[in-house]
Amino acid sequence: MAVYQATASAPVNIACIKYWGKRDTKLILPTNSSLSVTLDQDHLRSTTTSRADASFEKDRLWLNGTEEEIKEGGRMATCIAELKTLRKEVEAKDAHAPKLSTFHVHISSFNNFPTAAGLASSASGFAALVASLAQLYALPVTPSALSRIARQGSGSACRSLFGGFVAWEMGVKADGSDSFAVEVAPQSHWPEMHALICVVSDDKKGTSSTAGMQRTVQTSELLQHRIKHVVPARMDAIKKAITAKDFDTFATITMQDSNQFHAVALDTDPPIFYMNDVSRSIIALIVELNRASVAAGKGIKAAYTYDAGPNAVIYALQHNLREIVNLTMTYFPQSQAFNDPFSLYAKGQGVPGELP
Ligand code: DP6
Repeated sequence: MAVYQATASAPVNIACIKYWGKRDTKLILPTNSSLSVTLDQDHLRSTTTSRADASFEKDRLWLNGTEEEIKEGGRMATCIAELKTLRKEVEAKDAHAPKLSTFHVHISSFNNFPTAAGLASSASGFAALVASLAQLYALPVTPSALSRIARQGSGSACRSLFGGFVAWEMGVKADGSDSFAVEVAPQSHWPEMHALICVVSDDKKGTSSTAGMQRTVQTSELLQHRIKHVVPARMDAIKKAITAKDFDTFATITMQDSNQFHAVALDTDPPIFYMNDVSRSIIALIVELNRASVAAGKGIKAAYTYDAGPNAVIYALQHNLREIVNLTMTYFPQSQAFNDPFSLYAKGQGVPGELP
Protein backbone atom coordinates (compact mmCIF):
# COMPACT_ATOMS: atom_id res chain seq x y z
CA MET A 1 0.00 0.00 0.00
CA ALA A 2 1.34 3.43 -0.90
CA VAL A 3 2.52 5.75 1.86
CA TYR A 4 1.93 9.42 1.22
CA GLN A 5 4.36 11.32 3.41
CA ALA A 6 6.72 14.27 3.06
CA THR A 7 9.16 16.12 5.29
CA ALA A 8 10.37 19.70 4.93
CA SER A 9 12.20 22.19 7.10
CA ALA A 10 12.30 25.97 7.33
CA PRO A 11 14.61 28.24 9.32
CA VAL A 12 13.82 31.14 11.65
CA ASN A 13 14.00 34.65 10.16
CA ILE A 14 14.80 37.89 11.97
CA ALA A 15 13.39 41.14 10.59
CA CYS A 16 15.52 44.23 9.93
CA ILE A 17 12.45 46.23 8.84
CA LYS A 18 9.72 45.11 11.22
CA TYR A 19 6.23 43.93 10.37
CA TRP A 20 3.95 45.40 13.04
CA GLY A 21 0.27 45.92 12.27
CA LYS A 22 -2.40 44.27 10.15
CA ARG A 23 -4.86 45.94 7.81
CA ASP A 24 -6.77 42.64 7.58
CA THR A 25 -6.54 40.32 10.58
CA LYS A 26 -8.19 37.29 8.93
CA LEU A 27 -6.07 37.24 5.75
CA ILE A 28 -3.05 38.59 7.68
CA LEU A 29 -2.36 41.57 5.44
CA PRO A 30 0.22 43.94 6.91
CA THR A 31 0.14 47.72 7.27
CA ASN A 32 3.71 47.90 5.91
CA SER A 33 6.22 45.87 3.95
CA SER A 34 9.05 44.23 5.91
CA LEU A 35 12.48 42.70 5.27
CA SER A 36 14.37 39.98 7.08
CA VAL A 37 17.38 37.71 7.05
CA THR A 38 16.67 33.98 7.18
CA LEU A 39 19.05 32.23 9.54
CA ASP A 40 21.15 29.23 8.66
CA GLN A 41 19.30 25.96 7.98
CA ASP A 42 21.67 24.11 10.30
CA HIS A 43 21.00 26.05 13.44
CA LEU A 44 17.45 27.24 14.06
CA ARG A 45 14.77 25.50 12.12
CA SER A 46 11.48 23.64 12.27
CA THR A 47 11.15 20.27 10.58
CA THR A 48 7.69 19.03 9.73
CA THR A 49 6.43 15.70 8.45
CA SER A 50 2.97 15.42 6.94
CA ARG A 51 1.19 12.21 6.05
CA ALA A 52 -2.13 11.69 4.25
CA ASP A 53 -3.99 8.42 4.69
CA ALA A 54 -7.48 7.18 3.88
CA SER A 55 -7.72 5.65 7.37
CA PHE A 56 -7.20 8.96 9.25
CA GLU A 57 -10.40 10.20 10.85
CA LYS A 58 -9.46 13.86 11.20
CA ASP A 59 -6.57 16.27 10.65
CA ARG A 60 -4.21 16.15 13.65
CA LEU A 61 -1.09 18.06 14.68
CA TRP A 62 1.79 17.40 17.09
CA LEU A 63 4.26 20.14 18.10
CA ASN A 64 7.47 18.85 19.66
CA GLY A 65 5.69 15.58 20.39
CA THR A 66 2.59 17.05 22.06
CA GLU A 67 -0.74 17.02 20.28
CA GLU A 68 -2.29 20.47 19.68
CA GLU A 69 -5.85 21.15 18.72
CA ILE A 70 -6.46 22.32 15.14
CA LYS A 71 -9.17 24.91 15.78
CA GLU A 72 -11.93 25.14 13.20
CA GLY A 73 -11.53 28.32 11.17
CA GLY A 74 -8.17 28.98 12.90
CA ARG A 75 -4.87 29.79 11.21
CA MET A 76 -3.67 26.19 11.03
CA ALA A 77 -6.99 24.99 9.56
CA THR A 78 -6.87 27.83 7.01
CA CYS A 79 -3.39 26.84 5.80
CA ILE A 80 -4.35 23.16 5.50
CA ALA A 81 -7.57 24.05 3.64
CA GLU A 82 -5.72 26.32 1.17
CA LEU A 83 -3.22 23.57 0.38
CA LYS A 84 -5.98 20.96 -0.04
CA THR A 85 -7.69 23.31 -2.52
CA LEU A 86 -4.47 23.48 -4.57
CA ARG A 87 -4.19 19.67 -4.42
CA LYS A 88 -7.72 19.41 -5.85
CA GLU A 89 -6.53 21.41 -8.87
CA VAL A 90 -3.70 18.90 -9.38
CA GLU A 91 -6.17 16.01 -9.16
CA ALA A 92 -8.59 17.72 -11.57
CA LYS A 93 -5.83 17.95 -14.19
CA ASP A 94 -4.43 14.45 -13.71
CA ALA A 95 -6.87 11.55 -13.52
CA HIS A 96 -4.10 9.25 -12.19
CA ALA A 97 -3.17 11.49 -9.25
CA PRO A 98 -4.25 9.86 -5.98
CA LYS A 99 -7.13 11.74 -4.35
CA LEU A 100 -5.05 12.96 -1.41
CA SER A 101 -7.28 16.01 -1.02
CA THR A 102 -10.01 13.71 0.28
CA PHE A 103 -7.75 12.19 3.00
CA HIS A 104 -7.12 13.65 6.41
CA VAL A 105 -3.53 14.55 7.36
CA HIS A 106 -1.37 13.92 10.40
CA ILE A 107 1.32 16.56 10.89
CA SER A 108 4.28 16.39 13.27
CA SER A 109 6.66 19.32 13.76
CA PHE A 110 9.88 19.67 15.77
CA ASN A 111 12.13 22.64 16.44
CA ASN A 112 15.88 21.94 16.60
CA PHE A 113 16.40 24.87 18.96
CA PRO A 114 15.51 24.82 22.63
CA THR A 115 12.01 26.14 23.20
CA ALA A 116 13.61 27.70 26.26
CA ALA A 117 15.75 29.92 24.01
CA GLY A 118 12.82 32.31 23.97
CA LEU A 119 12.79 32.52 20.19
CA ALA A 120 9.53 32.74 18.32
CA SER A 121 8.95 29.54 16.41
CA SER A 122 5.75 30.47 14.59
CA ALA A 123 7.64 31.77 11.53
CA SER A 124 9.72 28.63 10.95
CA GLY A 125 6.84 26.42 12.12
CA PHE A 126 4.22 27.64 9.64
CA ALA A 127 6.76 27.84 6.81
CA ALA A 128 7.82 24.21 7.38
CA LEU A 129 4.20 23.08 7.64
CA VAL A 130 3.24 24.71 4.35
CA ALA A 131 6.39 23.41 2.63
CA SER A 132 5.81 19.83 3.81
CA LEU A 133 2.16 19.76 2.69
CA ALA A 134 3.12 21.32 -0.66
CA GLN A 135 5.64 18.52 -1.12
CA LEU A 136 3.17 15.83 -0.01
CA TYR A 137 0.62 17.17 -2.50
CA ALA A 138 3.27 17.64 -5.25
CA LEU A 139 2.02 21.17 -5.85
CA PRO A 140 3.55 22.90 -8.87
CA VAL A 141 3.92 26.24 -7.07
CA THR A 142 6.65 28.80 -6.46
CA PRO A 143 7.98 29.71 -2.99
CA SER A 144 6.23 33.10 -3.35
CA ALA A 145 2.90 31.35 -3.95
CA LEU A 146 3.50 29.20 -0.87
CA SER A 147 4.48 32.28 1.11
CA ARG A 148 0.98 33.64 0.46
CA ILE A 149 -0.40 30.61 2.32
CA ALA A 150 2.20 30.65 5.12
CA ARG A 151 1.34 34.33 5.64
CA GLN A 152 -2.14 33.26 6.74
CA GLY A 153 -0.56 31.08 9.45
CA SER A 154 1.67 33.80 10.86
CA GLY A 155 2.64 36.94 8.97
CA SER A 156 6.38 36.61 9.51
CA ALA A 157 6.26 32.95 8.36
CA CYS A 158 5.93 34.01 4.73
CA ARG A 159 9.53 35.24 4.81
CA SER A 160 10.90 31.86 5.99
CA LEU A 161 10.04 30.22 2.65
CA PHE A 162 13.23 31.78 1.28
CA GLY A 163 16.81 31.74 2.51
CA GLY A 164 19.02 34.82 2.59
CA PHE A 165 17.59 38.33 2.42
CA VAL A 166 13.83 38.39 1.99
CA ALA A 167 11.19 41.09 1.54
CA TRP A 168 7.50 40.69 2.33
CA GLU A 169 5.81 43.10 -0.06
CA MET A 170 2.63 44.27 1.65
CA GLY A 171 0.55 44.50 -1.55
CA VAL A 172 -2.51 46.68 -2.06
CA LYS A 173 -5.26 44.24 -3.01
CA ALA A 174 -8.05 43.36 -0.58
CA ASP A 175 -7.83 39.63 -1.35
CA GLY A 176 -4.13 39.49 -0.42
CA SER A 177 -3.08 38.03 -3.77
CA ASP A 178 -0.22 40.55 -4.04
CA SER A 179 0.98 40.22 -0.43
CA PHE A 180 3.82 37.71 -0.46
CA ALA A 181 7.55 37.21 0.10
CA VAL A 182 10.26 37.63 -2.52
CA GLU A 183 13.99 37.00 -2.44
CA VAL A 184 16.09 40.17 -2.33
CA ALA A 185 19.40 38.27 -2.42
CA PRO A 186 20.45 34.71 -1.60
CA GLN A 187 22.66 34.02 1.40
CA SER A 188 25.55 33.33 -1.01
CA HIS A 189 25.43 36.98 -2.12
CA TRP A 190 26.71 38.13 1.30
CA PRO A 191 28.01 35.02 3.12
CA GLU A 192 30.06 37.14 5.56
CA MET A 193 26.82 38.27 7.23
CA HIS A 194 26.11 36.55 10.55
CA ALA A 195 23.48 36.77 13.23
CA LEU A 196 24.38 36.41 16.88
CA ILE A 197 21.47 35.58 19.13
CA CYS A 198 21.70 36.76 22.73
CA VAL A 199 19.06 35.13 24.88
CA VAL A 200 18.41 37.66 27.60
CA SER A 201 15.35 35.92 28.97
CA ASP A 202 13.52 32.78 28.04
CA ASP A 203 10.30 33.81 29.79
CA LYS A 204 7.18 33.69 27.69
CA LYS A 205 6.51 37.20 26.43
CA GLY A 206 3.82 39.22 28.19
CA THR A 207 1.99 40.55 25.13
CA SER A 208 1.82 38.34 22.05
CA SER A 209 2.75 39.87 18.68
CA THR A 210 -0.76 39.23 17.39
CA ALA A 211 -2.49 41.05 20.25
CA GLY A 212 0.17 43.73 20.63
CA MET A 213 0.23 44.83 17.02
CA GLN A 214 -3.54 45.25 16.81
CA ARG A 215 -3.53 47.40 19.93
CA THR A 216 -0.85 49.50 18.22
CA VAL A 217 -2.97 49.80 15.04
CA GLN A 218 -5.92 50.99 17.12
CA THR A 219 -4.13 53.48 19.35
CA SER A 220 -0.74 54.66 18.04
CA GLU A 221 -0.41 57.87 16.03
CA LEU A 222 3.28 57.16 15.60
CA LEU A 223 2.43 53.95 13.71
CA GLN A 224 0.54 56.01 11.10
CA HIS A 225 3.61 58.18 10.60
CA ARG A 226 5.83 55.08 10.41
CA ILE A 227 3.83 53.20 7.79
CA LYS A 228 3.27 56.23 5.54
CA HIS A 229 6.46 58.22 5.85
CA VAL A 230 9.23 55.96 7.12
CA VAL A 231 9.02 52.33 6.03
CA PRO A 232 8.68 52.79 2.22
CA ALA A 233 11.96 54.74 1.99
CA ARG A 234 13.69 52.35 4.40
CA MET A 235 12.65 49.32 2.33
CA ASP A 236 14.22 50.87 -0.79
CA ALA A 237 17.37 51.94 1.03
CA ILE A 238 18.03 48.62 2.78
CA LYS A 239 17.50 46.65 -0.45
CA LYS A 240 20.12 48.87 -2.11
CA ALA A 241 22.47 48.39 0.85
CA ILE A 242 22.11 44.60 0.61
CA THR A 243 22.72 44.64 -3.15
CA ALA A 244 25.83 46.80 -2.64
CA LYS A 245 26.93 44.84 0.48
CA ASP A 246 27.06 48.17 2.31
CA PHE A 247 27.15 47.08 5.96
CA ASP A 248 27.16 50.62 7.41
CA THR A 249 23.84 51.48 5.75
CA PHE A 250 22.36 48.04 6.43
CA ALA A 251 23.27 48.30 10.12
CA THR A 252 22.11 51.90 10.50
CA ILE A 253 18.68 51.14 9.04
CA THR A 254 18.33 47.91 11.03
CA MET A 255 19.00 49.67 14.34
CA GLN A 256 16.76 52.63 13.44
CA ASP A 257 13.92 50.31 12.57
CA SER A 258 14.26 48.26 15.75
CA ASN A 259 14.21 51.52 17.73
CA GLN A 260 11.13 52.77 15.92
CA PHE A 261 9.28 49.50 16.35
CA HIS A 262 9.87 49.67 20.12
CA ALA A 263 8.90 53.36 20.11
CA VAL A 264 5.63 52.41 18.42
CA ALA A 265 5.07 49.72 21.07
CA LEU A 266 5.61 52.39 23.73
CA ASP A 267 3.20 54.71 21.89
CA THR A 268 0.49 52.04 22.18
CA ASP A 269 -2.25 52.51 24.77
CA PRO A 270 -1.68 50.90 27.23
CA PRO A 271 2.05 50.90 26.38
CA ILE A 272 3.91 47.70 25.57
CA PHE A 273 7.47 47.14 26.80
CA TYR A 274 9.38 44.33 25.15
CA MET A 275 12.96 45.22 26.05
CA ASN A 276 14.34 45.07 29.59
CA ASP A 277 17.39 46.59 31.31
CA VAL A 278 19.73 43.94 29.89
CA SER A 279 18.39 44.56 26.36
CA ARG A 280 19.09 48.26 26.79
CA SER A 281 22.61 47.56 28.14
CA ILE A 282 23.37 45.51 25.04
CA ILE A 283 22.24 48.47 22.91
CA ALA A 284 24.60 50.74 24.90
CA LEU A 285 27.45 48.28 24.33
CA ILE A 286 26.88 48.12 20.56
CA VAL A 287 26.48 51.90 20.30
CA GLU A 288 29.80 52.39 22.09
CA LEU A 289 31.53 49.72 19.99
CA ASN A 290 30.33 51.41 16.82
CA ARG A 291 31.20 54.91 18.05
CA ALA A 292 34.80 53.89 18.75
CA SER A 293 35.07 51.99 15.47
CA VAL A 294 33.66 54.87 13.39
CA ALA A 295 36.00 57.31 15.18
CA ALA A 296 38.91 55.04 14.21
CA GLY A 297 37.75 55.16 10.58
CA LYS A 298 36.66 51.51 10.56
CA GLY A 299 32.92 51.99 10.14
CA ILE A 300 30.05 50.28 11.93
CA LYS A 301 30.78 46.82 13.31
CA ALA A 302 27.44 45.56 14.57
CA ALA A 303 23.69 46.12 14.35
CA TYR A 304 21.28 45.16 17.11
CA THR A 305 17.63 44.34 16.57
CA TYR A 306 14.87 43.24 18.97
CA ASP A 307 11.55 41.58 18.22
CA ALA A 308 8.58 41.32 20.55
CA GLY A 309 10.75 40.30 23.51
CA PRO A 310 14.00 41.18 25.33
CA ASN A 311 16.39 38.96 23.33
CA ALA A 312 18.97 40.68 21.14
CA VAL A 313 19.94 39.63 17.66
CA ILE A 314 23.20 41.19 16.54
CA TYR A 315 24.06 41.30 12.85
CA ALA A 316 27.79 41.51 12.10
CA LEU A 317 30.27 40.57 9.41
CA GLN A 318 32.38 37.50 10.01
CA HIS A 319 35.67 39.32 10.62
CA ASN A 320 34.12 41.27 13.50
CA LEU A 321 32.22 38.41 15.06
CA ARG A 322 34.91 37.13 17.42
CA GLU A 323 35.35 40.59 18.96
CA ILE A 324 31.60 40.97 19.43
CA VAL A 325 31.26 37.53 21.02
CA ASN A 326 34.14 38.31 23.41
CA LEU A 327 32.66 41.69 24.26
CA THR A 328 29.25 40.19 24.95
CA MET A 329 30.83 37.55 27.17
CA THR A 330 32.85 40.16 29.06
CA TYR A 331 29.95 42.44 29.85
CA PHE A 332 27.37 39.70 30.26
CA PRO A 333 29.49 37.19 32.18
CA GLN A 334 26.72 34.70 32.82
CA SER A 335 26.46 34.26 29.07
CA GLN A 336 26.70 30.72 27.86
CA ALA A 337 27.83 29.86 24.39
CA PHE A 338 26.92 26.68 22.67
CA ASN A 339 27.37 25.43 19.15
CA ASP A 340 29.94 27.30 17.12
CA PRO A 341 30.50 31.04 17.48
CA PHE A 342 28.38 31.77 14.45
CA SER A 343 25.27 30.47 16.04
CA LEU A 344 26.02 31.48 19.56
CA TYR A 345 23.24 32.04 21.99
CA ALA A 346 24.40 34.21 24.85
CA LYS A 347 22.16 33.60 27.80
CA GLY A 348 22.12 35.25 31.15
CA GLN A 349 20.99 38.22 33.16
CA GLY A 350 24.26 39.99 32.62
CA VAL A 351 25.86 42.62 34.77
CA PRO A 352 26.25 45.66 32.59
CA GLY A 353 29.71 46.91 33.46
CA GLU A 354 31.41 50.19 32.64
CA LEU A 355 31.74 50.60 28.93
CA PRO A 356 35.26 50.70 27.46
C1 DP6 B 1 8.15 41.81 15.93
O1 DP6 B 1 4.37 37.13 12.54
O2 DP6 B 1 4.46 36.62 15.02
O3 DP6 B 1 8.70 39.69 15.00
O4 DP6 B 1 1.16 37.56 12.02
O5 DP6 B 1 0.11 37.82 14.26
O6 DP6 B 1 1.42 35.75 13.73
P1 DP6 B 1 1.26 37.24 13.48
O7 DP6 B 1 2.55 37.96 14.05
P2 DP6 B 1 4.08 37.57 13.92
O8 DP6 B 1 4.75 38.99 14.21
C2 DP6 B 1 6.13 39.21 14.10
C3 DP6 B 1 6.47 40.55 14.64
C4 DP6 B 1 7.95 40.85 14.75
C5 DP6 B 1 8.46 41.58 13.52
C6 DP6 B 1 8.75 40.76 12.28
O9 DP6 B 1 9.09 39.57 12.37
O10 DP6 B 1 8.69 41.37 11.19
